[in-house]
Amino acid sequence: MKFFIDTADIAEIRDLAQSGMVDGVTTNPTLIAKSGRNIMEVIAEICDIVDGPVSAETPATDYETMLKEGLKLAAIAKNVAVKVPLTPDGLKTCVALRKEGIMVNVTLCFSAAQALLAAKAGASFISPFVGRLDDININGLDLIDDICTIYSQYDYIETEVLVASVRQPEHVTAAARMGADVATLPPKILRQLYNHPLTEKGLEMFLADWKSTGQSIL
Ligand code: E4P
Repeated sequence: MKFFIDTADIAEIRDLAQSGMVDGVTTNPTLIAKSGRNIMEVIAEICDIVDGPVSAETPATDYETMLKEGLKLAAIAKNVAVKVPLTPDGLKTCVALRKEGIMVNVTLCFSAAQALLAAKAGASFISPFVGRLDDININGLDLIDDICTIYSQYDYIETEVLVASVRQPEHVTAAARMGADVATLPPKILRQLYNHPLTEKGLEMFLADWKSTGQSIL
């Protein structure tokens, strides 16, 4: 499973990129607003740090403007994936951008039917929002399972399932079990994946025993 990080915070991206765990980055208008930075500048900077896909969302809602914005965002760097919402105009923009060879991430997906439309539009990624479904008492992981099952029926579907709105490590492991291609994780969740109390306890014991030997390797 590939891990993207869901942030526009450059310091976080630089730090986590060094871990070797980061395959890409996703942003959205909320994350850009939170960064307090100009979208063109911040996306360019992220693309310099990370080689994999960097999602940048078009803030318009009509096809003509979305297409212009998408082309401008894609011109920033080769690894920009233009993010469009799952609306009729968004999917029309997806089709047009894919014809230009530009990666497209279709976002705000909340049903398997929507995911089918995105695949038909040739989306590079479909972003189903697990946490936001959980928030309204609908099991978000069931949607991931549905989409993975449906996509796997058709050899010609190349759209990757990108699990978004991840709120806990269990979302990641369950989605991996279902065969999801990518999970985009807030930095805090990526860091949580490393943790296990038995790892910490075991390391403490090993270090104490090692110290008692008085040895040194270097
Ligand atoms: C990523 O592409 C999505 O925009 C993001 O995961 C949404 O997460 P949220 O529901 O926590 O805002």
